[in-house]
Amino acid sequence: MINLSTGFAGLELKNPIIIGSSGLTNTTKDIRKLEENGASAVVLKSLFEEEIIREMQATYSSMSSEGFIYPETLEFYEHADTQEESTIRYLDLIAGTKKEVTIPVIASINCLTASQWTYFPRHVEEAGADAIELNIFILPSDLERTAQENEKVYHEIIREVLKNVKIPVIVKLSFYFSNLASFLQEISKTGIKGMVLFNRFYNPDFDLNTLDITSGAVLSSPSDLFLSLRWIAIMAERVACDLAASTGVHDGNALIKQLLAGARAVEIASALYKHGDAHIGKMLHEVEAWMKAKGYTTIDEFRGKLSQASSSHPAAYERVQFMKYFRGYQKENS
Ligand SMILES: Cc1cc2nc3c(=O)[nH]c(=O)nc-3n(C[C@H](O)[C@H](O)[C@H](O)COP(=O)(O)O)c2cc1C
Repeated sequence: MINLSTGFAGLELKNPIIIGSSGLTNTTKDIRKLEENGASAVVLKSLFEEEIIREMQATYSSMSSEGFIYPETLEFYEHADTQEESTIRYLDLIAGTKKEVTIPVIASINCLTASQWTYFPRHVEEAGADAIELNIFILPSDLERTAQENEKVYHEIIREVLKNVKIPVIVKLSFYFSNLASFLQEISKTGIKGMVLFNRFYNPDFDLNTLDITSGAVLSSPSDLFLSLRWIAIMAERVACDLAASTGVHDGNALIKQLLAGARAVEIASALYKHGDAHIGKMLHEVEAWMKAKGYTTIDEFRGKLSQASSSHPAAYERVQFMKYFRGYQKENS
């Protein structure tokens, strides 16, 4: 009997397929369908730091214009029943969804500073979220800021959020760091329970007819798997928290590879946009069939078997392989 259960960031999961933050997880109805189709957890679509701050400021200014702005503290704001629109809707989505599904519901906040909004995760916890994922992204394009200054912000955000909640905190990151391995290791020791490698970003593209700046492909393709596969494998036994893989996991084989690299779960989105919710079952079926063929009954029996630390061939992740690979490569039709 094959057992697909796993754990990620303190959450017990019936299988390793978490639905990544996206429009797929924006309503209770859709989340119920994802659960019916086999999803083991969902990360809700992100609320943006700016939305939280904007609504907080709108509330302040309306209180002020009505002439009762005293102790202007967040404490007051937190207990006032005056939040609006998207923050309220978000908390309702969490509470409503928790009533309808049994799988873990992970809230998500997209943020880039540690200021003003960091009280909000407490409300997310009170609404019933099982964990919170911080999608932190600071594009390191500002020549006036050093790498250390940028990296310090990640630490500040995590510290502030950890002060406010008891539920597990997960951080979803990019790969834009000057020393990725040491940064990931440092972040893993901050008290967070999980890291997601990596987020997929909006990429600008150019329209050669109109010379406009357009958006690159929104959805990933299967070949986008390899960046996160390499880094999950490199970091798997070097971090102090659980790892989940994201980007380019489109089928059961890609999921198996991430587990072999050392991931405890994957967060997927594009494959479901392309193939629909039933694709979850298909992927799980592929994993089960592979495990059966290999004689495995639990994921722990093979998880991390091909991580860099466990692999009998650790150089495969490094430069030597790169040299061998490109030296021998021939032109097609030659
Ligand atoms: C349409 C769409 C919307 C997304 N919205 C969010 C979001 O709000 N917050 C977030 O952290 N990630 C968001 N993502 C990123 C996904 O959660 C996921 O990390 C990324 O797409 C890589 O996984 P995939 O290759 O399986 O799509 C979005 C992805 C897509 C395709």
